[in-house]
Amino acid sequence: MDALVHAHIMQDDHSFSVFETILQKHSKTVEALLGCILSANTRNGEIIRPARLLAAVRHGVFNGGKRLRPFLVMESTMLFDARGKSAVAVAAALECVHCYSLIHDDLPAMDDDDLRRGKPTVHKAFDEATAILAGDALLTLAFDILADEANGLPAETRALLVLSLARASGIGGMVGGQALDIVAEQRKSDEREIILLQVMKTGALLRFACEAGAVVANASMEDRKRLAEFGRAIGLAFQLADDLLDVTEGTAILGKTAGKDITAGKATLVAIHGVDWIRHQLDGLIAQANEILQPYGQKADILRQAALFVSRRKN
Ligand code: IPE
Ligand code: IPE
Ligand code: MG
Ligand code: MG
Ligand code: MG
Repeated sequence: MDALVHAHIMQDDHSFSVFETILQKHSKTVEALLGCILSANTRNGEIIRPARLLAAVRHGVFNGGKRLRPFLVMESTMLFDARGKSAVAVAAALECVHCYSLIHDDLPAMDDDDLRRGKPTVHKAFDEATAILAGDALLTLAFDILADEANGLPAETRALLVLSLARASGIGGMVGGQALDIVAEQRKSDEREIILLQVMKTGALLRFACEAGAVVANASMEDRKRLAEFGRAIGLAFQLADDLLDVTEGTAILGKTAGKDITAGKATLVAIHGVDWIRHQLDGLIAQANEILQPYGQKADILRQAALFVSRRKN
């Protein structure tokens, strides 16, 4: 991002619109790359891409997501003065995992949702088997993108990113968190258990997004740890906000069915502590996130804005 834009970002409404402009700009960049990757053209070694499956994958990806995770990858890379196509590729890979997680999350066997990003979910627009396969295809593709030398990263960095995305997404990360989320629907959970499942199902990918920027930029281990900590704080804030929005906003704004968590008997901290408590927690997490970025001074203002967005967002 331009230094001039950075310099103008402050904690007010004007700066919020600056943040949104940059979010949109990065969103267009990552969508352009995803558009190429998710075309009918095969990648080296593939045989053919079945048209209906490709259409389902595209339905699950190109349907108006905020692209916050790609934004975080790209901006945390830029924090270390690195830029270019590698961060965009890593951002695209992460968005593939995220979109897969949503397609599967919406399946009848999981949250059974009909609406996602204001449109019918993939299993509604297509069918359940196709939605499962579309998710599988996206998950696999994410690792293809990371491992592919076309992303311009050195082999060692590619291997490191493959490993850390695998750890963030799998049994001890997002997927594990989804499993705990299902368990928590069936029996009463305490606050500690709910926070753990949230840190896993949502926090792990957001943490990866921030840490990956430092990895792409070949930043120091200390910087990597700091960005991972920042990602952890906003990851938890993100899911708290998601649970809050489920009760405070309507379906039209959310683009997904509002009030689902209560009807499904979901274990959320909103259900336990109420709306005001959550807002207070969100403020605390955002203050914490800002504090972590302190060594970077003004340079990190755009990431501070992202943290604020996470807690104040409406959808
Ligand atoms: C929704 O994520 C699912 C959660 C992890 C809570 P987002 O709110 O980032 O969804 P999109 O990508 O913008 O639709
Ligand atoms: C989804 O959490 C988390 C993942 C997809 C990993 P939710 O089930 O709360 O997300 P929404 O509300 O359907 O977007
Ligand atoms: Mg869910
Ligand atoms: Mg859901
Ligand atoms: Mg939710």
